[in-house]
Amino acid sequence: MSHHNLISEFNKIYYNDENNTWKSTLWLGTPIQKFPTDLWMYQEIIYNLRPDLIIEAGTLYGGSASFLATILEAIGHGRVISVDISDGPDPEKPRPRHRRLKYIKGSSTDEIVLLKLAEESAGLDTVMVILDSDHSKEHVLDELNCLKDMVTPGSYLIVEDTNINGHPVLPEFGPGPMEAVREFLAKNDEFIVDTSMERLMLTANPGGYLRKREPDCVYKRVAPCKNQRLGIHEIQTPVSY
Ligand SMILES: C[S@@+](CC[C@H](N)C(=O)[O-])C[C@H]1O[C@@H](n2cnc3c(N)ncnc32)[C@H](O)[C@@H]1O
Repeated sequence: MSHHNLISEFNKIYYNDENNTWKSTLWLGTPIQKFPTDLWMYQEIIYNLRPDLIIEAGTLYGGSASFLATILEAIGHGRVISVDISDGPDPEKPRPRHRRLKYIKGSSTDEIVLLKLAEESAGLDTVMVILDSDHSKEHVLDELNCLKDMVTPGSYLIVEDTNINGHPVLPEFGPGPMEAVREFLAKNDEFIVDTSMERLMLTANPGGYLRKREPDCVYKRVAPCKNQRLGIHEIQTPVSY
């Protein structure tokens, strides 16, 4: 079996054993629906970028929001705003609180929510966005178009769960995040796919780590550019999964 196929098979094994893997992963006691290897990449991105603000669409239990706030606390900089249409799945268990974390209730594409987010991100040097809410293609594409301008040059717009709809898991899902990313990138050349974020092999976000171009930055193997502390190994257009 080829290296690519082995990685793809392991992605399926990990995803399909959900009760032992991503549905039972905890961050400081709170459920977090992420692969540990993706959380590691988040940690590297945050350490290197030192974002002033991280906007997360899709809170659920608050595990990922809490993770992001914890890493920001460790570097002593930045805050998180996490948006969700619901107050959380368990009314008995309030979401984690953190001085660097704020929750907003509403849809990530709602006009009033977007106005609040635009206000919060105005004038900041480094804003990063993570999309992990409704995974239908239509909604993700809407989010990409609504939130892309809040992402600052050199920063990330991370589209979660591009692995569903057969890339390689959950083939029956229908058009989802991967299809939204493909359509978005076909019309927006201000973002590139940072495949170096997939180097730990297991990722729920193949082709989903989008980086906003910096005007004076040449994206190639180990690209040195302004304010860049990240070791970019390779930037390329999305490959098919
Ligand atoms: C996959 S879960 C988020 C998981 C969480 N980020 C984590 O890693 O633990 C998706 C969440 O998106 C929320 N959601 C669904 N549609 C939404 C929308 N239009 N705007 C904001 N949140 C939405 C759901 O209520 C649910 O809590």
